[in-house]
Amino acid sequence: MDSIIVRGNGPLKGQIPIAGAKNACLTLMPATLLSEEPLTLTNAPRLSDIKTMTELLSSLGAEVSSLQDGKVQAMSSHNIDNHIADYDIVRKMRASNLVLGPMLARLGHAVVSLPGGCAIGARPMDLHIHGLEALGAEIELKDGYLHAKAVKGLKGATIDLAFASVGATENIMMAATLAKGTTVINNAAREPEIVDLATCLRAMGAQIEGDGSSSIEIQGVDRLHGATHPVVTDRIELGTYMLAPAICGGEVECLGGKISLLGAFCEKLDAAGIHVEETEKGLKVARRNGRIQAVDVTTEPFPGFPTDLQAQMMALLCTAEGTSVLEEKIFENRFMHAPELTRMGADIEVHGGTATVHGVKRLKGAPVMATDLRASVSLILAAMAAEGETIVNRVYHLDRGYERVEEKLGNIGAHIERVKS
Ligand code: UD1
Repeated sequence: MDSIIVRGNGPLKGQIPIAGAKNACLTLMPATLLSEEPLTLTNAPRLSDIKTMTELLSSLGAEVSSLQDGKVQAMSSHNIDNHIADYDIVRKMRASNLVLGPMLARLGHAVVSLPGGCAIGARPMDLHIHGLEALGAEIELKDGYLHAKAVKGLKGATIDLAFASVGATENIMMAATLAKGTTVINNAAREPEIVDLATCLRAMGAQIEGDGSSSIEIQGVDRLHGATHPVVTDRIELGTYMLAPAICGGEVECLGGKISLLGAFCEKLDAAGIHVEETEKGLKVARRNGRIQAVDVTTEPFPGFPTDLQAQMMALLCTAEGTSVLEEKIFENRFMHAPELTRMGADIEVHGGTATVHGVKRLKGAPVMATDLRASVSLILAAMAAEGETIVNRVYHLDRGYERVEEKLGNIGAHIERVKS
C-alpha cells in the first residue's frame, strides 16, 4: 500500500485548482439510470470512487466512458439488463446505494446489496427505505440484499424525513422524478450537491422546485431525456486546501471556490485568525499575523459546519492558542484521527461525540495511520506544519476523494511525496 511522506515546511504560495465534487458526481452518475438517453457530466473528478461507480453502473448494463483524461463521464443507460447491484461492488463504497431509487423508478424493481456500516459509523438506510415505501415500493431485506419492487409503479407522496439525510433525499428525489403525481420531501437535505442533482435532473426534463430549502417538491413526468451537466465545485476539497495556508502560513488562491459553498466553515476560519477573500477566480486564503486562535466547532447538516471538514479543522486547532471543543453530530465514530494526531504531539481528549483540543505550540513528525478518507488528509495537513518528517501509511482512502493530492500541494510549496509499494 502506498504511503505519503511529508516534511514540515514554512509559508505556502500559489494557486490550487479545485475539482468537481466527488459527492455530487456519485449521485449524478446513477441519475443516468433514469433515462434511455445519454447523460454527460463535465468537470468530473478523477478519483477511485468514480471508478467504483463506473464499475457498478457498467455491471447493470450502462455504458460509461471517461473522456478527456477522466474529466468527462459520458453515460448511456439505453440497455439496463441487470437489476442486481452486487455486494462485491456495493461494499467498496456506500454511495452505491444511490442506484436503488433510479432503478426502481426506471425498471419497477431492483435488488441492491445493503452497504453495511463503515469506519465512521453504522450508517443505516432506514430513511431511504421509508421514503421509497411511501412512494409505493415494497422493500424486503433478504440475504443482505434489499429487494425492492413497485408493481403498480411509483406514486407521489409527502415524506417527512426524520433527519435531513443527504443520500435519502437524493434517492427519493430521483425516484420521484418518474413517479405519478406530486412528491414533497420535508426536512430535505440542503447541501449544494442536492441542488446540483436537482439542476441536472431539471436539464433532463424533471420538474423540481425548492432544492436548497428544506422542502422539495417534485412533479413526476413520464420520461426523462439526455443532458449535459457540469459538476459543482467540490466544497470539501476546497475547505481542505484552504486549511493548508491556514496551517502553514502564506497565501493561496483556491480556484473555483465560493464562500456560499462553505459559509459556516469560513466564519470559523475568520474566528481562528484566517483571512478569506472572494476573488474573480476563487477564494484567496491567508493567515493573519500571530498564532491561530482556538474556536469551538459543531458539525451539522448544510448550511452548518460540514462533518467532512471536521478532521481537517482539528488538524488546524491542534496548534491554536487555547482550548477548542469539537462536537461531532452527524457520525458516531468520527474521531479516529485524534489518536494519530496525538502521536504527533497533539493534546486531545475524546469523550463520546466531543473532542477537546488543548492547543500546543508545535506538532512533531511521526509515523501515522490513515483510517478513513478525511482523516487521511487531516494527517497530511498536520504534518505540513510539524517539525520533521511524517509518514502517513495506508493512504488508499485518500485516492477515493482527492485527485493528485501530492502534486496540488507540492505546487504551492509543500514538501510531500508518495512512496509506491
Ligand atoms: C453524505 C456524503 C458524506 C457526508 C454525509 C453527511 C456522499 C456520497 N456522501 O453521506 O461524505 O459525510 O453526507 O454530510 O454524498 N442515516 C440514518 N438513516 C438513513 C440515512 C442516514 O440513520 O437512512 C444517518 C447516518 O447514519 C448518519 C447521518 O444520518 O449518521 C447522515 O447521513 P447522510 O446524510 O445520509 O449521509 P450520506 O448520504 O451517507
